[in-house]
Amino acid sequence: MFKIFGKKNKENVKLFYRTDMHSHIMPGVDHGSQSVEESIEMLKAEIDMGINRVILTSHTTAETFENTPETLAEGYETLKAAVEQEGLDIELHYSSEYRIDEYWDQLYKDGRIVPMPGNFLLLENSFVQELISIDDLLFDLRSKGYKPILAHPERYSYYTNRRTRYEKLHSMGVKFQVNLLSLAGYFGPGAHSNAMWLVEHNLVDMLGSDMHSIEHAQIIQRYLNSKDWKKLLPRLEGRIVNDMIK
Ligand SMILES: [Fe+2]
Repeated sequence: MFKIFGKKNKENVKLFYRTDMHSHIMPGVDHGSQSVEESIEMLKAEIDMGINRVILTSHTTAETFENTPETLAEGYETLKAAVEQEGLDIELHYSSEYRIDEYWDQLYKDGRIVPMPGNFLLLENSFVQELISIDDLLFDLRSKGYKPILAHPERYSYYTNRRTRYEKLHSMGVKFQVNLLSLAGYFGPGAHSNAMWLVEHNLVDMLGSDMHSIEHAQIIQRYLNSKDWKKLLPRLEGRIVNDMIK
């Protein structure tokens, strides 16, 4: 009797942390997942990468995605029910990725922001120019007990020629979250080179998928199986504190 031994399917590389703290998997509240079915597929991809806790951080931005504590809670409840029905082994939490704009100012003033567990807050800078008031805001947030996280600092192109600002902001106690998609080159050479600079200068505290779609998940999965990722691991392991969010 002959036995044919095929090549073993190589297992996908898993992440070394368990919490994805930046994702657009909540269905129907921003330009991320558009349906519960899509969200479930994205969560399955997270599990394949070794993630078992996801913080849902849908956009909150003036005019485009004016989310509120109520819309976020509703999206979370819908997805949580679907996850239970599917029997997925993944813990969900929710907050938001808050763009610092006039809508944020109003929510903050009214006490209507939704922080992550542990009072962490994911903040998005303007992509056009640095906010003049960002230092004051970070100081104010910290004095009120919030732990601000700057979402994807590598993607703000105005820092490329002013990288000393990265050091200044980081020294003020804000945590830096870099996108796996930036490391994979998805946002172009500028974001990639900023991300690599931040890694080399030990300024990366958290990593996020920032996944908006199943395609993003696939790009990240391919990147995790690459030599480029393997080369970065010694610099990142032991520095990344995603699992501290609790
Ligand atoms: Fe995001």
